[in-house]
Amino acid sequence: MARFRVVFCVLLLALGARHVTPAAAAAAGVRLSALAKTLVVEASPRAGQVLHAGEDTITLTWSLNATAAAAGADAGYKAVKVTLCYAPASQEGRGWRKSHDDLSKDKACQFKIVQQPYAGAGKFEYRVARDVPTASYYVRAYALDASGAQVAYGETAPEDCFAVAGVTGVTASIEVAAGVLSAFSVAALAVFFVLENRKKNK
Ligand SMILES: *[C@@H]1O[C@H](CO)[C@@H](O)[C@H](O)[C@H]1NC(C)=O
Repeated sequence: MARFRVVFCVLLLALGARHVTPAAAAAAGVRLSALAKTLVVEASPRAGQVLHAGEDTITLTWSLNATAAAAGADAGYKAVKVTLCYAPASQEGRGWRKSHDDLSKDKACQFKIVQQPYAGAGKFEYRVARDVPTASYYVRAYALDASGAQVAYGETAPEDCFAVAGVTGVTASIEVAAGVLSAFSVAALAVFFVLENRKKNK
């Protein structure tokens, strides 16, 4: 049985590895505190609303804040990348969700929602991905330059954070693995009974 457990763990690790998204590889060295907050970002959920992962959708909008940005300030914006971020309350005591001023080390905004060419104001309908765990979240958008580096950002107000109820903590691939393994153990049990009966009959 111990061997089965080892196999199971290895399988889980292998499946888990697929879900790890390297935090914005292109962002090495860019500091959030050095970026201009020129984007106005809004998300449709009411403050405190609970959304169900894999089911509910969010409408996201972004635009240039004309007060914060000088005319033509967005000439270098080539793309917009929108991310879902763990709200501070959901980062507490969890190093793997911590926000960081160095964006290459930031783990709070680890869920990429969409990236598209910058065209001033934009809008996107996002269905909360099935692998988004239960926590509270806010939304941050980055303006990227031609090299893909962040040059400006904007985010929803901290008091507007909303909650996501995850898919019962079990992702689809783990469900499949568990199904395969339990079918396997039922088969093993059947073989065991057949052998045991044979022994008795002898
Ligand atoms: C636009 O920028 C100004 C100056 O930074 C700021 O005071 C204002 O709150 C921003 N507007 C929005 C809607 O975020």
